[in-house]
Parts: sequence; C-alpha cells; structure tokens
Amino acid sequence: MQTRTLGTQGLKTSAIGYGAMGISMAYGDGDTSGKAAITAAFDSGVTLFDTAELYGWGENEKALGQAVAPFRDEVLIATKFGFTRDYGFDSRPEHIREVVHNSLRFLGTDHIDVLYQHRFDPTVPIEDVAGAVKALIDAGDVTYFGLSEAGEETIRRAHAVHPVSVLQTEYSLFERDIEQLFPLLTELGIGLVPYSPLGRGFLTGTARPAGQYDADDMRNTDPRWQPGNFEKNLAATEHLQALAATIDATVGQLALAWLLAQGEHIVPIPGSRDPLRVAENAAAAALTLTDSQLERIADILPTGGYGARYTPENMPTWQ
Ligand SMILES: NC(=O)c1ccc[n+]([C@@H]2O[C@H](COP(=O)([O-])OP(=O)(O)OC[C@H]3O[C@@H](n4cnc5c(N)ncnc54)[C@H](OP(=O)(O)O)[C@@H]3O)[C@@H](O)[C@H]2O)c1
Repeated sequence: MQTRTLGTQGLKTSAIGYGAMGISMAYGDGDTSGKAAITAAFDSGVTLFDTAELYGWGENEKALGQAVAPFRDEVLIATKFGFTRDYGFDSRPEHIREVVHNSLRFLGTDHIDVLYQHRFDPTVPIEDVAGAVKALIDAGDVTYFGLSEAGEETIRRAHAVHPVSVLQTEYSLFERDIEQLFPLLTELGIGLVPYSPLGRGFLTGTARPAGQYDADDMRNTDPRWQPGNFEKNLAATEHLQALAATIDATVGQLALAWLLAQGEHIVPIPGSRDPLRVAENAAAAALTLTDSQLERIADILPTGGYGARYTPENMPTWQ
C-alpha cells in the first residue's frame, strides 16, 4: 500500500489505517478479540492501528497488543488518554503518566507510537498536557504527539510546547466541519486522521433504521439514523453506490478514496471486525477518483449527511 506522512516529525504510515474501537464497543456484538480483523489489516498493508484507554479500559489495548505482537516492529500503535469512566475528562499530568504506563502494559509494548489527548480538558492548561506528553517522548515511552477533537487555540498552544504531528477528528462524506481547520493544519504542518470515515458504517450501504441494532449499539440513537434523516442519508448512499459500481468499487471504498483525495496529509482509520471487510477497506487506497467522479460526489452530498454527528450531550466542543 502507498504510504503517507503525517506531520513534520517523521510519522510515516500506510494511507489507510485501522480503527480498533468497534471490536470492544459502540457497534454491538462481534469478534471482540479482533485478531482475525487486525491480522487481515496487516496482511493488506495497513501499518497504523488505533485504540484508546476509553475503548474498554484496557480490554481494547490488550486485544490490539496481542493481535499485533507477531508484527509489532512493522506497525505503529496509536492510543489516547483523557476520559474518566463516567465520560468526564482528566488530562492532569500525573493522570497522563499513569494512563500511559497502563497502556504500555496492556499493549505489551515498550513504546506508544502516537499518543493522543482524546478530548480537551477545560481544567488543565493545554501547555501542561503538552509538557507531560513531551516528557514521555523525551523518556522514549511515546514517539509522536496527537490531539483529538481539538480546536484552533488548543492546537496552536499545544504545538508551541511540542510539535503536534496529527489531529484526529470525525471526517467523512457525511461530516465536513473539520475542513474549516485545513488552513491551520497546512500552516503548522499537521496531519489529519479522519475517524468514523465510513460514517459509522452508513456509507457502506449496510445501514438499518435506528432500533434494529443490538441494544448497546450507538446507532440506535445516532441523529443520522433517526426518521427524517435516515431516508435522506440512505438515498444519498444509494446514489454513491451507483457511482461506485461504475468503477467496480464498493460505496465504502468510494467514501475512503474521497477522503484520500482531500489531501496528502490525510489517513483514514476505518474499523471492522470482519477480515474480508477490512481487506476491502484497505484496497480503497489503490483507487484514484477522477475530477468528474469527485464532481458527481459533490452533487450527491455537497455539504455532508443529514443530521448531527452526535447527540447534543455527546457532541465534542472544539476549544
Ligand atoms: N477520536 C475519537 O474520538 C474517535 C471516535 C470514534 C472513533 N474513533 C476511531 O475511528 C475508528 C473508526 O471509526 P468507527 O469505527 O466509529 O466508524 P467507521 O469506521 O466509519 O465504521 C465502522 C462500522 O462500519 C462497518 N463496516 C466497516 N467496513 C465495512 C465494510 N467494508 N462493509 C460493511 N460494513 C463495514 C463496521 O461493522 P463490522 O465491524 O460489522 O464490519 C462498523 O459497524 C474507530 O475504530 C476508532 O479507532 C475515534
């Protein structure tokens, strides 16, 4: 697979990564070991694997660490700190150190390649957060610094303490808000890792109406799945599917190729527990969309999908 460089500190990865969250949470039952899917990702050329403390409080990191153990030296592991178990925030430096040392143990590794602050913590100055991450980098526990769902001021202030290599935020054919930060990312030389790049699966053509998922599946309450929005998002996905069929691609591959076409600084991290789907997603890196295909996509979804990306109580605020 082609490689891309995120940031200016030397972070080089496959153009498409793998997001492990769904093997532990968010999308109902499945193979929670993730081993087959993660192995399929590596076999397909994926070298960036994404997890977080939040994804099972060690369970997801353990699963990822075990699955990548046979090829650990050939891949990059990204993890995140900053949530509390009741979904509050805690980025105090002593807490960051504690979380990172737990993550190293859960992952079974001696270093974390990319460490993200998962969410901005209004009670801790970002300079203190960046300083704590810098100390972990200086100690060799961490290699690159990332932020997730951060706004311009936070990014600038963090970057002034230690260079930020990558911002992770939701970005997909359904979700475009992050485009307003592209000039900043270009100015500071920061890469972008789009999360939920398949719109939580909607953009694969497999969406079912809210209420038809497992009880603990977040899509039951996702605004894009609610009546009124669901039908419009479905119609748009069907138009995209028809376009994808003209190039022998799946609609999910079209959605990932569209992201890759938005800039060389972009590396999406689709998630799936199914090895065949993982291989399908990785193969999107070989697709280059023409100007007329990109124009057709812009006709179908000029500004994104219908409905907000989170319910109001879960919506991240950029600061
Ligand atoms: N920083 C943050 O705050 C944040 C927030 C959310 C996510 N993330 C990261 O981003 C990663 C990806 O996001 P995501 O998992 O939310 O959403 P996503 O990748 O857009 O979609 C995942 C969903 O799509 C389905 N899917 C994937 N490939 C498919 C295919 N080829 N055909 C049909 N269905 C397919 C999966 O189901 P199956 O498993 O059944 O295939 C799963 O339900 C996460 O794993 C996590 O690492 C980060």
